[in-house]
Amino acid sequence: MADAALRIQNLKKWYPDPDGGRFLAVDLPALEVASGESVVVRGESGSGKTTLLNLIAGILPADEGTVEIAGMAMTGLSEVKRDRLRAQHIGYLFQTFNLLPGLTAVENVQLGMAFRPRRDESPKTAAEAALQRVGLADRMRHRPAQLSVGQQQRVAIARALAGHPSLVLADEPTSNLDSKRADQCMALLTEFAAESNAALLVVTHDERLIERFERCETLRAPKHEEATA
Ligand SMILES: Nc1ncnc2c1ncn2[C@@H]1O[C@H](COP(=O)(O)OP(=O)(O)OP(=O)(O)O)[C@@H](O)[C@H]1O
Ligand SMILES: [Mg+2]
Repeated sequence: MADAALRIQNLKKWYPDPDGGRFLAVDLPALEVASGESVVVRGESGSGKTTLLNLIAGILPADEGTVEIAGMAMTGLSEVKRDRLRAQHIGYLFQTFNLLPGLTAVENVQLGMAFRPRRDESPKTAAEAALQRVGLADRMRHRPAQLSVGQQQRVAIARALAGHPSLVLADEPTSNLDSKRADQCMALLTEFAAESNAALLVVTHDERLIERFERCETLRAPKHEEATA
């Protein structure tokens, strides 16, 4: 069988507590997402959703277990190598967008493709096409502060997807949107992902979203561990 776009086994991440104990923020025995498949992971606020995506993307190092992206281990790599693997394979729609304030919309999208293997089209052409797709053809030279929140999110969607990643991660993509905008956002994410046969993994507590996916996984509530002497 072909490698899964994402394969997780026995993944654990602890955070230190202010009282000297530690807090198990992510404890996920197994999760696999195939190319072309879309999966939602639900969990209440604080259940570790953002932490999980940051582990998958290699932004945070895991404490235990493995994450494989397209058959390649993300866990166990140095930070530089994790950054490279993320840049080559993953499109990440962050909960808070993370657009660079000094760059225009088109520059932000281009930057998302800076470390991707080159395709036929130039990064600039691809960035402009992606912004056109999300309905921002007339906002390409605007900086984030000159855009509405909904428009900023569409820039972030274009940045996550313009480089045709094999795995798309989206963190609470609809939490600040009304139903109509939430529909548009999900349509963009699923259409873009389907075009490149990418795997789509969305984390959310939005019940409206959960109904749209064929598969739904639930994160367990995190556990607190007392400090050991
Ligand atoms: N850097 C950190 N240091 C210590 N604890 C942290 C850190 N980041 C997150 N946490 C804790 O880990 C838990 C999981 O946080 P995380 O941001 O992953 O939750 P979430 O499910 O994304 O929540 P939300 O739905 O509110 O975005 C929270 O209880 C949080 O307080
Ligand atoms: Mg979160």
